Formats: sequence, structure tokens, C-alpha cells
Amino acid sequence: MTVSHTRVRKAVFPVAGLGTRFLPATKASPKEMLPIVDKPLIQYAVEEAVEAGVEVLVFITSRTKRSISDHFDRAYELETELELRGKKSELAMVQDIVPAHVSCVYIRQAEARGLGHAVLCAEPVVGNEPFYVILADDLIDGTGRSSLLQMQDVYERHGGSVIGVERVAPEETSRYGIITPTEISQRLYQVRHIVEKPRPADAPSTLGVVGRYLLAPRIFEVLKNTGKGAGGEIQLTDAIQDLLNQEQVYACEFEGVRYDCGSKFGYLKATVEYGLKHTELGNAFRDYLQQVGADLQKGRR
Ligand code: G1P
Repeated sequence: MTVSHTRVRKAVFPVAGLGTRFLPATKASPKEMLPIVDKPLIQYAVEEAVEAGVEVLVFITSRTKRSISDHFDRAYELETELELRGKKSELAMVQDIVPAHVSCVYIRQAEARGLGHAVLCAEPVVGNEPFYVILADDLIDGTGRSSLLQMQDVYERHGGSVIGVERVAPEETSRYGIITPTEISQRLYQVRHIVEKPRPADAPSTLGVVGRYLLAPRIFEVLKNTGKGAGGEIQLTDAIQDLLNQEQVYACEFEGVRYDCGSKFGYLKATVEYGLKHTELGNAFRDYLQQVGADLQKGRR
């Protein structure tokens, strides 16, 4: 059954976090600007949104995040310099970061009061429309179809809200929002309950929320009444729990690989995998890794 739905045109990027897991790299620059090979994490997230049809990018920023707005802005000096030097492909690269029909809006989150509070800050721009929330430190390689497009398919069929989930290691449930699912079809669930960062012994399943949400605008009303939760912060997960008492929330176990680039190990994995796939570097990097592997086996490193 196809239900009538509003097209999702806006995406919210909460980028005000402190990035403490990546200190000292994130002391003066945002974790979202950490590059995977040659592109910052936030650009991968923006590209995924634009590919899914988003036209308004809403960044919830804080004091130390100016480089994010600079990154999506024109860079006249650099552009002039590249033009003078005849560096055409580099020029196109910096000019085409955001297509002309897409606009960027920046909202300052004055205090770090949690993900739920960050999302609520977007209300004046999002208004009464469904929207995406994208956490850039979850880098997702959708293998053919991005996670957002897979979630959009669910939304077009069922309406409601849709959250992206994946199976997480049982001992790691305390790092995620965890759902109680009722299976609808393969990789699609109705969310019965959701809890933020439960201990493994208390976790209702191993289906963990990753940083992709397609939310109905009613979430804003709910967030206004959401008190502090885990870690003393206003949690988006708690608001989703209230929302699912009022309307349907689905979970899409998307196909693809997620790299937790908020952790050093996940970041390193993503760097290796994207390095291997890189058009210019891939082959040389593969040879290098094979050499490293051989050396490791012989105990030479
Ligand atoms: C946030 C959410 C959590 C979700 C996670 C995914 O937590 O609160 O529910 O599972 O993102 O990355 P954070 O990683 O910001 O602590």
C-alpha cells in the first residue's frame, strides 16, 4: 500500500558536539571536518542528503564550528588562485560542493544540551514538514542505494517516521539507542519501544539506531516536553519513544556498511576502505597494504 506523503526536502545536521573521543584532533577543529581520504565527513553526509533529494541543509552548529560553514561557502581567493593557475578540476571540486539549487542554513546551539535539543533548534527552519536528521560521524556506504534512499522507500510505502538501524555487537548496546522491534518484512520493523544506551543485560534487542532518521514534524512538539535523559542530556531517543505512542515509527535495517567515525578504530577502518576504493590511489594503496600484510605475517613490523 502506498500512503500519501510529503516529499522530504530538508535535512538537519547536528554538528555542535564536542568530539571528545577524538581529542586532541578536535580541540580547535570540528570532528565533522576530519577527512576520510580527501573529503571531510560532513561532505559525505551532505552528498548523501542531496542525492536523496534534499534542498535545504540545516546545520546546528556551535562556536568552534566555523570551518563547516566556510566549507560549504564560496572561497573566492582560492577560486581565483586556482583559475589563474589553470587548475580546472580542482576549481570544479571546490565550486561544486553544494549544487546551486541547495541552500545552507546555520543555527547556533548556544549550549550543548543533547541531540534532542539540537534537533529542536531546527524547528523554525523545518516547520511542519518531515525531515532527515543525519549524524555525520556515522559514515554509511550504502552499496548501490544510500541508507537515506532505502529509508525513503519505507516512508513512501508506510508514512510515519523511519529510523536507520543495524545489528550491533551485544556487548556494545550501551553505545546506541536500541529498539524493541516487530518484524514487518525482511529488514523492516515497527518500533514498539526504544531506549537510549541500555546495558547489555537490559537491552531489548541488538538492533541499534545509527545516525540516520526520517522524522515526522510532530517530533518537535514532543521534544518541547522531553526532559533530560541518559547522560543528563535531552535525548532524541526519548522523544522518539513518546512519538511512537502517538504515531507509527518504523526501523529500516538498511543494506550497506556503517563506519563509526566517532571512534578512532571506526575512523581508521573507513580510511582504509575508502582508500582502497579511491579512483586515483586505490591500486597503489592495495599494493601497499599487501606489503604491510606480508611484513606483518613475517613478524617484520
Ligand atoms: C547518538 C544517539 C544514539 C544513536 C547514536 C548513533 O548517540 O543518541 O541513540 O544510536 O547516536 O551513532 P551518540 O553517538 O551521539 O552518543
